[in-house]
Amino acid sequence: MLDELRQTIASKEARLAVIGLGYVGLPVACAFARIGFNVLGVEVARQRVDTINAGNSPITGMEPGLQELVAEVVASGKLRATWDYEELGDRDVILICVETPVDEHDLPNYEALRSALEALGTVMKAGALVIIESTVAPGTTRDVVLPLLEASSGKRLNQGFYLGNCPERVMPGKLLANIRNVSRVIGGMTPETAQTMQVLYRHIVSAELDLTDCITAELVKTVENTYRDVQIAFANEMALICEKVGGDVWKVRELVNKSPGRMMLMPGAGVGGHCIPKDPWLLAYSVRTSDIDLRMIPAARSVNKSMPVHMVELLEAALKSEGKQLYGSQILVLGYTYLEDSDDIRNSPSQDVVKILEDRAAIVTIYDPYVASYKGSLLEKASGCEAVVVMVRHKEYRALDLKSLASVMKTPLMIDGRAVFREEEACKAGMSYWGLGKSGEAV
Ligand SMILES: NC(=O)c1ccc[n+]([C@@H]2O[C@H](COP(=O)([O-])OP(=O)(O)OC[C@H]3O[C@@H](n4cnc5c(N)ncnc54)[C@H](O)[C@@H]3O)[C@@H](O)[C@H]2O)c1
Repeated sequence: MLDELRQTIASKEARLAVIGLGYVGLPVACAFARIGFNVLGVEVARQRVDTINAGNSPITGMEPGLQELVAEVVASGKLRATWDYEELGDRDVILICVETPVDEHDLPNYEALRSALEALGTVMKAGALVIIESTVAPGTTRDVVLPLLEASSGKRLNQGFYLGNCPERVMPGKLLANIRNVSRVIGGMTPETAQTMQVLYRHIVSAELDLTDCITAELVKTVENTYRDVQIAFANEMALICEKVGGDVWKVRELVNKSPGRMMLMPGAGVGGHCIPKDPWLLAYSVRTSDIDLRMIPAARSVNKSMPVHMVELLEAALKSEGKQLYGSQILVLGYTYLEDSDDIRNSPSQDVVKILEDRAAIVTIYDPYVASYKGSLLEKASGCEAVVVMVRHKEYRALDLKSLASVMKTPLMIDGRAVFREEEACKAGMSYWGLGKSGEAV
């Protein structure tokens, strides 16, 4: 049965489905549809289904090529979206791309994954190949996905269906390019399943495909994101040290990275998005019942989670230096997404900053060109403000005329959490500049 499936995948006759049409699922569905596969997208958010079927991308940040590609593959009939799981009954390969967040206790919340698998199992055709692209805790494909699919379908693994795990490695802003150019780890429940998956992904990925088992694929994905979180936490802690001793972390980083083998990342106002803040917890979850005492993962998370708090501390110190206080001050927050030039606001550090400021009775105004409720005129929003807090590195901010900004503010104070502006240019424009990682002895 698997040999036959492999042939229909090779000839692009296999009928594909993608469950969950978000940042991961939509570009993947489009990538397969573009090269001729018939792709059905299953999505619970009905508005998203309507938007896609009208030929539009619901992702509104800078996403090169995606809008055009959605229009193209919907018009050609190669991609169609639906909310109706019944339509999955004739699909040969099903990719699962639903969200996998953690809950308030940092434990995996697999509600979306479970409900997708339960609904899929009741209609899944014999011999289908199911691939988990969502990021999951190591062991999840074996211990959660497999039993759920067997129970809901009444079929047995490697007899009635096949199962694999191929974690996605995209970044918003480069979704289509990443799918094509970034290597992938392909985990199969058997080597033959991994080989079949390889035939599938070879159609859309030009980079290396590394074949392995599911546990390794799950480990690689969660380890690579945990690595990033730990590295960012290191940079953030160095920023705090530089502030205290009167250094400039940006300069220090530049010089450190001239030393062989050093690749210090950039510090910043916090870590957000759907992945980096939760994937370390998914990794940690996999050893929850063992006696291993994890120290680095929680420490890194704690450092990174504290950065929005630190931004408010910097703001307070800056205000104090002008004889002002946070209470009742009007503050402009620049950027509400977690990433530059993206519309993704999930877990954005700005949300934490805004909450802290509001709890402290500051009057908060937000400007973000990618978030519908925070668009408008930056200068109008800045008018009468005591300070501007830069949280995101949107390209548009770089073009900002700082002189005009300073002229409309009540107190021209800037707290820059992403090194968007240079201290000299801000000062030249008449602003007092406080940069993360370079505020000397002030805090
Ligand atoms: N966003 C990224 O950059 C990125 C990168 C790599 C991996 N991932 C991983 O990929 C997965 C998806 O992330 P995302 O950013 O695309 O999430 P997302 O929230 O943008 O997309 C998930 C989509 O699934 C839909 N959905 C939820 N339950 C469903 C169900 N039962 N049936 C059908 N549709 C359902 C949601 O409505 C949503 O549109 C996560 O596990 C994430 O960790 C994300």
